Amino acid sequence: MLVIIKKNYDEMSVEGAKMVADLIRRKPNCVIGFATGGTPLGLYKELIRMHKEEGLDFSKITTFNLDEYVGLPPEHSQSYHFFMWENLFKHINVDPRYVHIPQGMAVDIDEFCDWYEERIKYYGGIDLQILGIGANGHIAFNEPGSSLGSRTRIKTLKQETRWDNKRFFESDDDVPQYAITMGVGTIMDSKALLLLASGKGKATAIKATVEGPITALHPATIVQMHRKAFIICDEGAASTLSTEYSGYLS
Ligand code: F6R
Repeated sequence: MLVIIKKNYDEMSVEGAKMVADLIRRKPNCVIGFATGGTPLGLYKELIRMHKEEGLDFSKITTFNLDEYVGLPPEHSQSYHFFMWENLFKHINVDPRYVHIPQGMAVDIDEFCDWYEERIKYYGGIDLQILGIGANGHIAFNEPGSSLGSRTRIKTLKQETRWDNKRFFESDDDVPQYAITMGVGTIMDSKALLLLASGKGKATAIKATVEGPITALHPATIVQMHRKAFIICDEGAASTLSTEYSGYLS
């Protein structure tokens, strides 16, 4: 695990984007796992800049997103489909045929989840999975208590997660109750992980992830077991790490 500490959110984002761009230049038909949420937005902005100003070519990449709400159509402004197209895909030359985002409207969700796992295998596995982290240590929608070997599946959202998301929906009843998410095991099968964290609000989660015991109660701690995991955080998110890290290899 390599922990890279950057001064602030912008530097973290640029460093993360460099890693993604290096992979695309090395392997134009690579498979990239994308995340939603606030944290990767700066990285996506930098990728868009690299595409527009430096000609970074996304035409041959395949993408797999981590998660999606159940019951939201792709055009819903709170769906992760909408998020990805608005914040990244529509600004770059990604081929829509190679974009995979869990289908929140799938008729048979279990069947869809099996298909998603197969699809990842079909494309040779994910070369680099981008991850954010929840303050409680969740990765994707794998909340505390999720099995560390889990695969893509439907999960019931925790009440606190639904409360957090309430502001984005017209009424409480509109907040989705379920999500489809890659499992912790699915994420761990990726050839490399790139976990981003910014701000003091993530400091406790990052300390547990880097220094804590591995536990399903803090799913992100499993990245300690990954053979190629990069954690890029800013000084806020790194502020409670007990060792002096300025690029820490273990
Ligand atoms: C999103 C996802 C979530 C977020 C996490 C952090 O696809 O998988 O696990 O990465 O909730 O969210 P932000 O970045 O908004 O703090």
